[in-house]
Amino acid sequence: MKDVKQALLGRRSVRRYERQAIEQEKLDFIYEAIRNTPTSYNGQQFSVIAVTDQTLKETLYAITGQKQIKTCAVFLVFCLDYHKLRIAGELKGSEIPDYAPTVDGYTVGVIDASLALMSAMVAAESLGLGCCAVGYIRTADPSKVSELLSLPKGVAIVCGLTIGYPREEPDMKPKLPLQVVVHQNQYSSDEEMRPWLSAYDREICQYNQERSGDRTTNDWATHILDYHREAMNHSIASYLEHQIGLKSGKK
Ligand SMILES: Cc1cc2nc3c(=O)[nH]c(=O)nc-3n(C[C@H](O)[C@H](O)[C@H](O)COP(=O)(O)O)c2cc1C
Repeated sequence: MKDVKQALLGRRSVRRYERQAIEQEKLDFIYEAIRNTPTSYNGQQFSVIAVTDQTLKETLYAITGQKQIKTCAVFLVFCLDYHKLRIAGELKGSEIPDYAPTVDGYTVGVIDASLALMSAMVAAESLGLGCCAVGYIRTADPSKVSELLSLPKGVAIVCGLTIGYPREEPDMKPKLPLQVVVHQNQYSSDEEMRPWLSAYDREICQYNQERSGDRTTNDWATHILDYHREAMNHSIASYLEHQIGLKSGKK
């Protein structure tokens, strides 16, 4: 078993997997790590759908175009969840506040689900398994995916995670320097950050030209801004309005 340092600092996204099932005790550890995730108010405003059915995985692959969903041993779909608290509240005859569709309620659910994803990722890494987060499960066709997973109202997709035995050892991607990631006591000035950001842009450009696999001449900033431009076309607003009543632009 890897120690925490190895699991965190040696982690990279793995998108190709061996055809090998994950032992039940390893899955149990991952699920217990998910279960013990810290959550806002201990409200545990999240749920996970563990997809192991091959036909369902292939359907989700067809929707998202993300091949790792088809080949992984298990695909976990992390959702924000206000449905189960509604059930528990109704059992007590309590009035249910309409918290989910507020900006704070939505944020709380997304944080809880995201932390649960990270718990699963670190547990899986420590077991020598490989993982890849899959945001396309939220953006490609969330209404269709929610229908396939039988998500009730009050539950909405946040992100997916593929897990399996690695069939590749991708290069570690260079990350932004600590100077622009961890700011000491106050946010750094633009002047302080510019040289670090330029240096990182050059580092990524160099990395993209030399890495194993597909090589490009992409830098960091242009490439990510292009992603953001494209991502502005993913509209999950109507999906969130349907699932949790979130009204975009109003709350
Ligand atoms: C919220 C989130 C969503 C992501 N969605 C996808 C995805 O849909 N498809 C994919 O191939 N990788 C996805 N990734 C993986 C990122 O591309 C990857 O983490 C990033 O390039 C950094 O590389 P590394 O994980 O190897 O350090 C996602 C990562 C996160 C955190």
